[in-house]
Amino acid sequence: MSTQHQDGHDRINIAIDGPAGAGKSTVARKVAERLGYIYIDTGAMYRAVTLGIRRAGVDADDHAKVAEAAASFDIVITNDGGKQEVVLDGKVVTEEIRTREVNLLVSKISAIPAVRQLLVDKQRQLALVRGVVMDGRDIGTKVLPNADLKIFLTASVDIRAERRYQESGNSQQITLAQLRQEIAARDKMDQERAVSPLTRAADALVVDSSDLTIEQVVEHIIELGRTKLAGAK
Ligand code: DC
Repeated sequence: MSTQHQDGHDRINIAIDGPAGAGKSTVARKVAERLGYIYIDTGAMYRAVTLGIRRAGVDADDHAKVAEAAASFDIVITNDGGKQEVVLDGKVVTEEIRTREVNLLVSKISAIPAVRQLLVDKQRQLALVRGVVMDGRDIGTKVLPNADLKIFLTASVDIRAERRYQESGNSQQITLAQLRQEIAARDKMDQERAVSPLTRAADALVVDSSDLTIEQVVEHIIELGRTKLAGAK
């Protein structure tokens, strides 16, 4: 259901889910920019919690301690002029949350039910205003089951590994084969975890970005959004 805003424009909420490296964040950010919507990167929230847990030296297998620490973190995500900054307890950690150490631990931390509950509650609060593009793994299924438009953005493992490899400029000293293996392992953990696994919502539209440019995907989603808005009137 779309609602009428004070400025007279209809706005919808858009959920974008999919596996690592499918292009979700780039696409979601651009769609939000084009529509003048707010972009919410839920992966960055799980990453910030993971970094905090590492820095605090909390044992990732001690779920009670992890949950307690996670609840104590102050995580703020700003999107000024299209650039996202992630702030953990007052310090900018935008770069640190993208390191390999965080990549390797984040699936484990994000599988802990208390961590998910904490962040899902925050995410729902952020989406109380209309005109939000939110990306993650469980947005269409769990966080915003009533989102007006749900996209499941995917691409082959090979393509996703290749993209991440190019993005990193190999600054993380990792081969393409290793990266592919790590992405496949992360997919498996995200898909098989007991709480809110990565699955396509029944009413999500699948967009395979393997053979599309970012701009083509963005254009396609905006067009789907227009159709939804037209249908809601
Ligand atoms: O999208 P990303 O790669 O930044 O996400 C980092 C990790 O966080 C990913 O391995 C799965 C997890 N995640 C999640 O479980 N649920 C979300 N809504 C977003 C991310």
